[in-house]
Amino acid sequence: MRSIAIVFLALLGCSAPPIPEPEVKAPASDNLPRGFTAEEIERILDLSPLPDPPPDPTNRFYEDERAAHLGQFLFYETRLSGSGEVSCATCHLPNKDWGDGKKLGEAEGQMTRHTMTLWNVAYNRWFFWDGRADSLWAQALGPLEEPREHAGSRLRFAHLMHDDADLRRAYTQVFGALPDLDDASRFPPEGRPVPGDPEHPHAKAWEGMREEDRVAVNRVFANIGKSIAAFERKLVSRRSSFDDFVAGIREGDLYKQMELHEDARRGLKLFLGKARCFLCHSGPNFTDREFHDTRVPPLKGGKRLDPGRYDGVEKVIADPFNGTGAYSDDPGEAAEVKVDYLIRNGHNWSEFKTPSLRNSIVTAPYMHQGQFATLDEVLEYYSTLEGAVVNHHQAERTLVPVNLTEGEKRDLHAFLEALTDLSLDPALKRKPETPYLP
Ligand code: HEC
Ligand code: HEC
Repeated sequence: MRSIAIVFLALLGCSAPPIPEPEVKAPASDNLPRGFTAEEIERILDLSPLPDPPPDPTNRFYEDERAAHLGQFLFYETRLSGSGEVSCATCHLPNKDWGDGKKLGEAEGQMTRHTMTLWNVAYNRWFFWDGRADSLWAQALGPLEEPREHAGSRLRFAHLMHDDADLRRAYTQVFGALPDLDDASRFPPEGRPVPGDPEHPHAKAWEGMREEDRVAVNRVFANIGKSIAAFERKLVSRRSSFDDFVAGIREGDLYKQMELHEDARRGLKLFLGKARCFLCHSGPNFTDREFHDTRVPPLKGGKRLDPGRYDGVEKVIADPFNGTGAYSDDPGEAAEVKVDYLIRNGHNWSEFKTPSLRNSIVTAPYMHQGQFATLDEVLEYYSTLEGAVVNHHQAERTLVPVNLTEGEKRDLHAFLEALTDLSLDPALKRKPETPYLP
């Protein structure tokens, strides 16, 4: 079946290489759970265990403990904003499962998309709903300068790293010396590129700088992103009762298999079959790591025509911080293959990234505009596709109404619930006392 699934995904234009397979035992032939065909068992084994997040060669510091510690500090640091009041945790709240519970994100201004959870974020291949960043570190640079989010500028942040003794110590321990930012004639207090607005004071300050100074500031900016990414990599969820069930299949351990109750088992069968969920929510993180158009109607009063991946492709190719760029630690073949072969296609219009379903039980509301308040509303939508908006003639063909009964919806809900693991070192949920490790 796996080969069929691969052919199928290839037809959909999904070329993502799978997350590296963990070394796991083949299932013991006795003691398989009853009610599943051999083909279904094979599909189930593809869904667990979830290995460590894949490496990020474009970020040399992705596993560096000191970088992750600094990144955690910066994640909660409100000085990393224009007003001194916004941090990443303003919208990605540790006690709201790294989201904000709102339909649309907001800080300095109102966003047009829903805040994504950071659970298992490091398994992704593309970032943001439209995939306009190709690494976790490049993603972090977006909100820092976005006027509706942190509303800051890279020069302001470089000065902060330079002027604050603790941050300076933490930074130099990991990344080496900072440029000499004391010379105000070369390094104005604020400045950043402002696409489409050359008269903006930030843009004028930035354009007035020497090229080599801009490169030096960009490097500090990129390193801020790399340290935050090293922190985010720790937000992993992979020990759910479903994972116990699958471990039980591999080990022939019936007690472990009992972790998945009858209703959730029926839901799993639907997930793999009639309900067609696994066609997109595939692999051990329950996402194909690519983009689809689920035709979900826009929020009332929300942005009507969101191009989604159609714009994302263009933006990630143009991003100076993408994996092929000057600030990548491995601009070689792997990064090139990822970005250089991207082609913007008509079918990309209003496609959004397939989210993981691990922990989705706690990350309401759902979809790129938070259109659905509950999982039951999501299931109702997939069941009937009522209100679906056909945005263009190349509509997603995988998506058809799957006509679920009330009982089937309850079973699918029970299965999604069985994908929950909220255990996490509580020390990650707050700002450390210092940005450096002793
Ligand atoms: C104003 C609220 C807000 C702030 C502040 C904010 N974010 Fe977000 N975050 C969002 C929204 C909204 C999205 C989705 C945006 C989109 O797709 O266009 C998002 C997306 C993301 C994603 C993509 C996840 C994925 O699966 O692709 C990551 C990672 C992330 N944010 C991390 C951060 C970090 C790190 C910071 C601090 C530097 C931060 N965010 C600050 C609201 C916020
Ligand atoms: C054609 C591919 C496809 C199929 C089939 C599919 N999904 Fe999705 N799913 C997506 C995409 C893409 C999104 C994000 C859509 C958006 O934001 O507009 C999504 C979003 C979701 C979300 C919201 C997650 C979040 O964090 O916002 C849930 C829950 C979900 N799907 C569950 C399911 C279930 C259950 C099934 C089977 C009944 C299913 N999906 C079938 C692609 C698919």
